[in-house]
Amino acid sequence: MTREIKRAESPMGTTPGYMPGFGNDFETEALPGALPSGQNSPQKCNYGLYAEQLSGTAFTAPRGQNERTWCYRIRPSVKHTGRFEKIDMPYWQSAPNIDPELISLGQYRWDPVPHTDAPLTFVTGMRTMTTAGDVNTQTGMAAHVYLANASMEDEYFFSADGELLVVPQEGLLRFHTELGTIDLAPKEIAILPRGMVYRVEVVEGPARGFVCENYGQKFDLPNRGPIGANCLANPRDFLTPVAAFEDREVPSTVTIKWCGQFHQTRIGHSPLDVVAWHGNYAPVKYDLNTYSPVGAILFDHPDPSIFTVLTAPSGQEGTANIDFVLFRERWMVAENTFRPPWYHKNVMSELMGNIYGQYDAKPQGFVPGGVSLHNCMLPHGPDAPAFEGASNAELAPVKLENTMSFMFETRFPQHLTAFAAREAPLQDDYIDCWDGIEKKFDGTPGEK
Ligand SMILES: [Fe+2]
Repeated sequence: MTREIKRAESPMGTTPGYMPGFGNDFETEALPGALPSGQNSPQKCNYGLYAEQLSGTAFTAPRGQNERTWCYRIRPSVKHTGRFEKIDMPYWQSAPNIDPELISLGQYRWDPVPHTDAPLTFVTGMRTMTTAGDVNTQTGMAAHVYLANASMEDEYFFSADGELLVVPQEGLLRFHTELGTIDLAPKEIAILPRGMVYRVEVVEGPARGFVCENYGQKFDLPNRGPIGANCLANPRDFLTPVAAFEDREVPSTVTIKWCGQFHQTRIGHSPLDVVAWHGNYAPVKYDLNTYSPVGAILFDHPDPSIFTVLTAPSGQEGTANIDFVLFRERWMVAENTFRPPWYHKNVMSELMGNIYGQYDAKPQGFVPGGVSLHNCMLPHGPDAPAFEGASNAELAPVKLENTMSFMFETRFPQHLTAFAAREAPLQDDYIDCWDGIEKKFDGTPGEK
């Protein structure tokens, strides 16, 4: 049976297939007149569609945070699940996942997780590196690497445990979601909301990337304070897909992640049957090249929070459940300043990934596709070559080129999975990168 996907026209014409804006209240229809006007739930919907609300926040969440979408679909979602059976997904772990045999306290770094010959989809290829918090109390996160070389055909997935922030490093993925289609390439990110059903096609593979699974409150744009209304991630650069649907009657499976466990149910049709929708709870993508960094223009440099793209708040003001932070190309111009990140210990725990190029605090060893972990209150900073280089560099304006790394930073300690500790390509010698740092102090004044 051929798969026909009907898609609405882009109303703005800016990027075909997408609507611009972050958290906007969108409306879109793939067939004319499918969207009711002036009300959400008419006695009968056009085309014989069913009206259904998908709530991403509690009904009574404050207005600025309240997110929901009205869907007009071929069948209500209750027809997209049957009885459930539990299935194993041993490499996708959820917090709390604390293995007493493993030592999470340590500076860790991994080479890229290698691709395999075995067919892996975006879901079966998910490899959890760390978990933090507790999925059952909707706090914390998990950090994953995904490997995908096979498309999901008549296989669908959703997670009730949190939204997924996807950061591709290799390959091209196409997310066919209930609300529309997102194409995703390296240097872009996407957010797949909690509860949203989708299947993932590997358009160019094999694909690899990173995922932050956010158990808590949704990612939002950070407050900019004195920076004002512009720069960092600008709302217009976020793109939400227009409505698209499948009217496809074939045996299909839906896999559901719920409280850290995986369940499968069988249905006879595609659940991606939303013909029209309106609301503000929707998937979104963002081109990291549109991120406008703000930084030091005279001396010293601000905390890395200046590079926050998205922040997922916790209950404590200013202390994020997760910050997504981007280290991209930028000019370095500060005078009389040690320009790379300084040495530090941080109450937050930091998982970094390299999308491409070279990271300035670690000229060697932190390679594209690689991951590093610096946990709660564990000291880290430039290695010896980076320190010596930056301490002795001529401080002319320098453009950091060919560099794009990111950080998932959480207020909760991150615990290694057995996969990260025993199967992933851990660099046993990472801690040695600080060996060459010398004692320069000899009690006499002056620069050493
Ligand atoms: Fe750090």
